[in-house]
Amino acid sequence: MRAYSSHKDIIKLVNKVDSVGLVPTMGSLHEGHLSLIRKAISENEKVIVSIYVNPLQFNNVNDLKKYPRDIKNDLQRLEAISDIIVYVPGDNDIYEKDKKKKKYNFGHFTKIMEGKVRPGHFDGVATVVEKLLRMFNPSNAYFGEKDFQQLILIKTLVKKQELKVSIVGCETIREDDGLAMSSRNKLLNSSERTIAGNVIRLLKKAKKLYKSSTKEETKFNIIKDALMIENFNLEYFEILDISELSGFLEEEKEIRAFIACKVGKIRLIDNIKI
Ligand code: PAF
Repeated sequence: MRAYSSHKDIIKLVNKVDSVGLVPTMGSLHEGHLSLIRKAISENEKVIVSIYVNPLQFNNVNDLKKYPRDIKNDLQRLEAISDIIVYVPGDNDIYEKDKKKKKYNFGHFTKIMEGKVRPGHFDGVATVVEKLLRMFNPSNAYFGEKDFQQLILIKTLVKKQELKVSIVGCETIREDDGLAMSSRNKLLNSSERTIAGNVIRLLKKAKKLYKSSTKEETKFNIIKDALMIENFNLEYFEILDISELSGFLEEEKEIRAFIACKVGKIRLIDNIKI
């Protein structure tokens, strides 16, 4: 593993390589990130892992301040993986003189769920991801399905901007009780950690109910259940057909249940195929 803070140094290393895999992260690495990195290593000649907490995608200053950062530990975890390139930029290297959110128009799907609850979030994500993709011109870029709406956003971005990269969605990695791995999990205290187990419980319950109930009945039942849980604030629960989520992509029909909540002050999201 070698870490660089200048993208120009990395470009020199990868510009003659057959296939480059990019794994964009915001650090505080966990097993979920490591699974993306392992997949990237198995499919590319060189792999770049970026670690950058992108200020443009936070619609709340406090959330940005509190976002977990642990660069020392991240680099230690990556140390053992030989032959990867780690990009740890400062704001200036990534945005140069232009630290501004680009305004995209991705249509309806950026106005629901995460797009509705976090206005401007997706423009911030797309801005940094487009910068990284144009910078390194990777053959493949890897993103987790936990942020499923983000995955669709990035696929849409790539198609609209006609970027030559294949976006690889990777399965969510979970803790033993089913909680989706997330950098934010380490901010939960022990009682919040127990309550967080309800996220996957509700999704699995929705999957079971949906076999014999309508979408509206399932949603009603899950929302009612969620409202009874102490210290669990539901932000949204949705059941959506992926093929309708972004009209721009030709995704196959697939029904997924999506949830976002706050446990104490910590925001958690998850989704499963139902
Ligand atoms: O999913 C994330 O960690 C971030 O949204 C990403 C894709 C690295 C962009 O900052």
